[in-house]
Amino acid sequence: MATYDIATIEGDGIGPEVCAATVTVLKEALGSNLLSFNQFPGGASHYVKTGQVLPQETFDACNTSHAILHGAAGLPSVTYPDGTEVGNDLHLQLRFKLDLYANVRPIRLYQGDFSPLKNRQSGDIDYIIVRENTEGLYASRGAGVLLRGEVATDTLVLTRKGVSRIAKFAFELSRKRNGAPSDGVRRMTVCDKANILRSYAFFRSVCDEVAQDYPDVAIDYAYVDAITVHLVKRPEFYDVIVAENMFGDIISDLGAATVGGMGIAPSGELGDNHGLFQGAHGSAPDIAGQNIASPLATILSGSFMLRWLGDRHNDVSLITAAERIERAVEATLANGKAIPRDLGGLASCSEVTTEICRQLK
Ligand code: IPM
Ligand code: MN
Repeated sequence: MATYDIATIEGDGIGPEVCAATVTVLKEALGSNLLSFNQFPGGASHYVKTGQVLPQETFDACNTSHAILHGAAGLPSVTYPDGTEVGNDLHLQLRFKLDLYANVRPIRLYQGDFSPLKNRQSGDIDYIIVRENTEGLYASRGAGVLLRGEVATDTLVLTRKGVSRIAKFAFELSRKRNGAPSDGVRRMTVCDKANILRSYAFFRSVCDEVAQDYPDVAIDYAYVDAITVHLVKRPEFYDVIVAENMFGDIISDLGAATVGGMGIAPSGELGDNHGLFQGAHGSAPDIAGQNIASPLATILSGSFMLRWLGDRHNDVSLITAAERIERAVEATLANGKAIPRDLGGLASCSEVTTEICRQLK
């Protein structure tokens, strides 16, 4: 029986709690011998102690393991002299060094009245944001110009390779889905600002070139300002959305808000050879250590990890376990017995975890 090595980086703030909750659920779903969770340090707290945000030992483990499970990283008080946060370099170094070019962010409304939008039911909102994760405005991380305290610039970088592979990823993803909730049409929406900047017009033109290979998937366009309206007014229209790095970062939080918040927003950061799975939320230091954080985003990221591993290794036991975890989350939210606080309930992190494990049994 194969065993999968999971490099586990709990990180900062609520990271340890939501990571531990996810390991508990994954072990409940699969038994303890199929997944080997190996803990490695990293993040802002580790940097304060050692001067290293991503130790070489942690990077090497991420590079050689089957997948990476991460809690959260970053503490607002731990910054570089230029003002940027240290802890975020854990994500950014892993994304750039492991080439995790597709940041996949499912936005899905579960049964249980969690949307702040009126008259939305489970299934009305079900799309995936595919955020390019290795270039765009983030290419300037640590490379921007700061001049005499007078001038600051960061450059947005788009490459043909980067745009074409993320567009292909998005089209392929749409092919595997059942289309948008409103009309069942397989639709790939290009989110950009092509009307104003050449770089985004380039982004759109490369997506159009890739679209030639996907006549079965409808291509759609939305300027990033307009899509913030559409995601609120007509989220049911969307199936898959592709966006440059910074735009994807921004609209994925808006999308999460429409289905209940960051506590229910999973993510999978995928390259051709590596996958990092974490909730799309941050480290929430203000609620750390109180057992009140929602583990759902990380637990759903864990089931995403099982699906990804199952596909890569043709291991149906992992896919089955992922499906069982997702059904256990749905049942937990539907029966209302353990609703986390960010979704309007009173359940603690451990109570949510216990109920999901009970559902799994
Ligand atoms: C996210 C976060 C990260 C980002 C930070 C933590 C580096 O906001 O994953 O959405 O900016 O991409
Ligand atoms: Mn973000």
